[in-house]
Amino acid sequence: MKITFYGHASLGIEVAGKNIIVDPFISANAKASHIDLASLKADYILLTHAHQDHTLDVEFIMAQNPNAIIVCNAEMATYYLAKEFNCHMMNHGGSWQFDFGKVKYVNAIHSSSFADGTYGGNPGGFVIEGEHKNIYIAGDTALTMDMKLIPMRTKLDLAILPIGDNFTMDVDDAILASDFVDCDKVLGYHYDTFGYIEINHNQAIKKFFDAGKDLMLLEIGQSIDI
Ligand code: NI
Ligand code: MN
Repeated sequence: MKITFYGHASLGIEVAGKNIIVDPFISANAKASHIDLASLKADYILLTHAHQDHTLDVEFIMAQNPNAIIVCNAEMATYYLAKEFNCHMMNHGGSWQFDFGKVKYVNAIHSSSFADGTYGGNPGGFVIEGEHKNIYIAGDTALTMDMKLIPMRTKLDLAILPIGDNFTMDVDDAILASDFVDCDKVLGYHYDTFGYIEINHNQAIKKFFDAGKDLMLLEIGQSIDI
């Protein structure tokens, strides 16, 4: 499984020969201006919630990849189905076996509305099991006790957690979240994009290190293989 950081909360995942884009917000992110949005391949677009900093580039990517399938909650799927995009709607606690692996839509504590005010359902995160590797994409969320449910079903290899504070968990809560999901290998996201969520990288990495954990902060466009 290859994971690419496209800035903010945007990810690319290559697994089982499929290309997945998560929460695309690239064209309006000045820090991601070197990413060529038009060249991104998508078989699936996974969306944690409707906020514009997670959905801005969905329609552009769907125009470039008309056979792609949007995977999201029921209310967001209704919004995109009305635009005649392919959707697979899910809701909290449910899993589906896709051709690249199994996806579970899990709880997040946040909010969710589209930029035009349309209700975006309840926000979530994803647990993805594919190619014998398991990852958790938390989405925008507070620290929540529900995270403790995840390792009861899935042994994670990587937890992708927001660390930017203000809208989501901060670094210290993300360390607790790492305990809750029983995964010491963390990829941080949702930081630095705006003034509200700028973080001190070295301090964040040291805090995780001191807790016996590994925090990765990728350059935008950088990939890791797990
Ligand atoms: Ni949000
Ligand atoms: Mn966000």
